[in-house]
Amino acid sequence: MCGITGVVSFHPIGDRLYEGVRHLEYRGYDSCGIAFLDDHHVEIRKDIGSVDEVDSKENIRQLTAQVGIAHTRWATHGKVTKENAHPHQSCHGEFVVVHNGIIANYKRLRDELLKAGHHFRSETDTEVIAHLIEQHFAESGDVERAWVGALRALQGSYALAMISPHDPDHIYCARHEGPLIIGVGSESNYIGSDFNAFIDYTKSTVILEDGEYGIVSRDSFSVKSLQSGDVVEKTITVIPWDSELSRKGGYPHYMLKEIHEQPQAVRSALSIGDDEIAAVADMMAAARRVHLLGVGTTYYVALFGQYLMAQLADMDAPAVSSDEFRHLDRTDSHSLVLAISQSGETYDTVMSLRHAKERGAKTAAIVNVMGSSIARMVDRVILQGSGPEVCVVSTKAALVQMILLTRLAIELGTRRGTLSAAVRREHEAALAALPGQIETILNEKSGLIRAAAYRHARVQNWLFLGRGIYYPIALEASLKMKEVTYVHAEGMPGGFLKHGTLSLVDDKLYTLVVVPPPSAGELYAMTMSSVEEVKARGGFVFGITYDGEEDIFNDRLVLSPPSELTAPFLPLVAAQLLAYFTATALKRNVDKPRSLAKSVTVA
Ligand code: AGP
Repeated sequence: MCGITGVVSFHPIGDRLYEGVRHLEYRGYDSCGIAFLDDHHVEIRKDIGSVDEVDSKENIRQLTAQVGIAHTRWATHGKVTKENAHPHQSCHGEFVVVHNGIIANYKRLRDELLKAGHHFRSETDTEVIAHLIEQHFAESGDVERAWVGALRALQGSYALAMISPHDPDHIYCARHEGPLIIGVGSESNYIGSDFNAFIDYTKSTVILEDGEYGIVSRDSFSVKSLQSGDVVEKTITVIPWDSELSRKGGYPHYMLKEIHEQPQAVRSALSIGDDEIAAVADMMAAARRVHLLGVGTTYYVALFGQYLMAQLADMDAPAVSSDEFRHLDRTDSHSLVLAISQSGETYDTVMSLRHAKERGAKTAAIVNVMGSSIARMVDRVILQGSGPEVCVVSTKAALVQMILLTRLAIELGTRRGTLSAAVRREHEAALAALPGQIETILNEKSGLIRAAAYRHARVQNWLFLGRGIYYPIALEASLKMKEVTYVHAEGMPGGFLKHGTLSLVDDKLYTLVVVPPPSAGELYAMTMSSVEEVKARGGFVFGITYDGEEDIFNDRLVLSPPSELTAPFLPLVAAQLLAYFTATALKRNVDKPRSLAKSVTVA
């Protein structure tokens, strides 16, 4: 997820440009770069890798320049290479741009510019913008007119910033369907794709709207309408956040922020190319044995995947907890091990993969962190692109992993003839509708879930039940509860209860039941029979349910039923919020619970 920052100042800007891009790192990126005006020409420093890696080569912090822009790139058009990293420049380096978004008509523009004699250095859609400005400048000789001419030719989405030696005292910026704001400081002004880019230096901001562009100098700024060229009077908004809160996007904890990022994270997962999904599906289809590997949350994700592969693709793909994998392993050169890991560094999973590789197995992975050990060691990786997950407790990364396994199961089901083209289309439409349904829960149910969490915050023991594919959801929901609240919470299949654990049920043990929609038929009926069993022994049952009619619960949260395919995801989001609010009620260290680490790199 790209980020933009820029500074124009009476003082050297190296430190502020460096801090600006560093504070955009949380968005996730694969390369970064800066451009600055130096003695009436523009210098560009960029590379793949982290801001600190680029800084250590390029000494960004030591810059004495007073005007510059910077960018963190998350690749969309073109591979992750130094050439494709931003900033991008026109043929003669006179117009240099950074861009977030996608230029929809870039192919046509690029062809026209090539015909006009322009030379391209990258594969990006962004580079056309720099050449387009140069083309318009050749006609008008005026930077602002060239800027406006280029913007008017663009279709798609953009947040943009540009510098040029032809107007060395200004940064030009604009937005269309992508955020871009101006920071108004003292003896310096700023631009950013969000407040984090400059919040350490000023809290006074001017928010550009679609169809507006800004021209920012050291001590002033103007905003104009792209259509009419008229000046737009803007008001300055003072952000009431400190920089730490801002980095959390205004949320009190990263966990809540990351729960709220899930709609966007799912959209990103759905935009991962079909070819990437197909490449792993090829490996799974070719293998004689497939194992899904994870540990902790990712084991539950793998278990969820096992149900999906069975249900959608009639395929046997057992989930194995990676801490136990070596003790069970029967892999050989006909096996495929698909590992799931947000960090890509988990020791148990790394060791299991190493072991499987030694036995000749093929390996693949779903990983959130690019360049991590697991991403590098497997034959094929799907980078889930969920952006950084800072909270130790995994939420958005896990949900996205489940989405990617769903896409894999749909692909395999199509190949194996268990899903017709029509059903595939239905499933894909259901996945596309999911982000909006998650948003509805976040917007409309958070208050109810918070109230429930505070009502039950003193409960000492929870049992989480689910059946079928709702069983791994119950397991993951119970893990969320225990890791962030330190309250005992065990997950198990509803049917397992009567084989022992029922003896624990009394009025002090609370049971949370993840109930499928009534349309699930037998699964619904069987789940409700577990509810009855607990109630018959005087147990308290909290239902996360889709059935507004059936109210045998002591307390419940009723969700609106989506499709059968996506119904398991929504109770998970509700359970994440329940765990979060219970933790805040108990004043736990939400983002860094005791004894846990984000990457577990020990045996
Ligand atoms: C998740 O909330 C947990 N903190 C933990 O179980 C985690 O899922 C597990 O350690 C695996 O981590 P990974 O995804 O980074 O491999």
